[in-house]
Amino acid sequence: MRDRIHSQVAFHCEFMTLPTMRKFLPMLLCLSGIASAQQIKVEDIYAKYCSGCHGAKFEGGQGGILVDGVWKHGSTDAEIAKTITKGNLQLGMVPWEGILTGDQIRSLVIFLREKEKQTLAKGMSFPKPSPDKVTKTELHDYRIETLVESGIKDPWAIAFLPDGRKLLTEKSGRLRFITADGKLDPKEIEGIPAVIEHGQGGLMEVAVHPDYAKNGWVYLGLSDGTREKREGGKDEVRCITAVVRGKIKGHKWTEQEWIYRPDPKFRSGAGVHFGTRFVFDKGYIYFVIGERGGLMEVQDLSLPNGKIHRLHDDGRVPADNPFVKTKDAIPGIWSYGHRNPQGLAMDARDGTLYSTEHGPRGGDELNLIKPGANYGWPIVTLGMNYDGMPMSYRGPDGKEILSVTEKEGMEEPVAFWLPSIAVCGLDFYTGDKFSKWKNDLLVGALAQQEIRRLRIEDKKVVSQEIILKDIGRVRDVAMGPDGLIYVILNGPDRLVRIVPAGK
Ligand code: HEC
Repeated sequence: MRDRIHSQVAFHCEFMTLPTMRKFLPMLLCLSGIASAQQIKVEDIYAKYCSGCHGAKFEGGQGGILVDGVWKHGSTDAEIAKTITKGNLQLGMVPWEGILTGDQIRSLVIFLREKEKQTLAKGMSFPKPSPDKVTKTELHDYRIETLVESGIKDPWAIAFLPDGRKLLTEKSGRLRFITADGKLDPKEIEGIPAVIEHGQGGLMEVAVHPDYAKNGWVYLGLSDGTREKREGGKDEVRCITAVVRGKIKGHKWTEQEWIYRPDPKFRSGAGVHFGTRFVFDKGYIYFVIGERGGLMEVQDLSLPNGKIHRLHDDGRVPADNPFVKTKDAIPGIWSYGHRNPQGLAMDARDGTLYSTEHGPRGGDELNLIKPGANYGWPIVTLGMNYDGMPMSYRGPDGKEILSVTEKEGMEEPVAFWLPSIAVCGLDFYTGDKFSKWKNDLLVGALAQQEIRRLRIEDKKVVSQEIILKDIGRVRDVAMGPDGLIYVILNGPDRLVRIVPAGK
């Protein structure tokens, strides 16, 4: 079977420059959001307000699948209506009260019930990549091999060991081996730190030290904190992203050392935006702590959230970090003003560090990371709120201030995506199997279920192509030492790899 992915090269960063984009922003927001929600059909309400998080095809996303018969927050019509009305900001569910009318919320419940019935009747079906299918792209043709398709839940990241095995994290807190021939080792690795699985957080990043063959260090990024049971109510959770390293002996995690374990006072109950992702370079580790929903906290250098950090790979603070001499600043901070970067990669050609950052609705960004720079969240953004309202935040005096699209002293993105594609996972392709993709940046996307290939010249994106589409939400994309491209998919949870076919 042959199939062509159209080379839709004219994506947002080419067809619209930043200044043009700014001029048309109010109109675009009006088109993609909703100025008045009063007279629209329930299908359109779902498409416009809910699909960004619950999936255009009801496949789930940042918010769960709403049509699989599983209702975590109450399964009666009244309970579902209440969840929609009151939301759950801790977990990232928007309260729709005041935006949608009572009638509209009631029709959403009916609509979801209909869809639930239809889906349960025919069984959930997801596209499965066929091993014989060749996908043609501009420069290379490839096939997809499915390595693992059962036994894993919410896989998050992959790392490669010199003996051909791989390490795979699952959000629930399991660290697994994938054997050299690509099979899931049923026995999990025991003794890693307790992980607080909460909303989007849990066990996330895994990476091996560049000198792993000599030193054996494995690094993990996880949600660290406490969970206390409360009588008859919700658990009391406090957590934040932390970085730890250890060595794996057999199936045991040993010699553990915390690289960065934020003070417990920085933990929060929010279930959103944990960041993570590591890059190693010249004895340093770079990592991300997402903003945890904390708006202006991102601009506060005495807090670790909403920042990209740089430490020596043993956790010491480098003496030349940009804020080591700033009073009360967290000394590991490398750059700030970030919302939720979940892609981090370095261009080996010139050592430039890039991050992809989840924006609000319509504000996903590719950023070039410079020491000490401010990336502007929530003061500057091209996106808007999930409810279609402009982004705003509270100033020091508590007054509401509208976000702007540019501001002196705040970095502009190298590229942006409107609508948001939900960027997650990022890697430069440096192998030989796909030689014409050499030094291209591979960008994973959850909501749009795709991988984009960005050609970068002189630190600018000169072209962009979708090379993979619609086989699941892309959580991580990583080039293996074998030059093949490994892709972690969520919903359906799978590990697949892209292998050359012909061209
Ligand atoms: C910004 C993202 C976001 C948007 C937009 C959003 N939701 Fe949610 N929703 C969530 C999250 C996160 C949860 C909690 C998931 C969990 O508990 O794991 C949730 C939970 C829910 C639940 C409870 C599901 C259960 O298992 O009990 C319902 C019902 C729901 N959403 C309906 C809606 C509807 C209807 C809309 C549109 C009007 C909507 N949501 C828009 C993020 C979102």
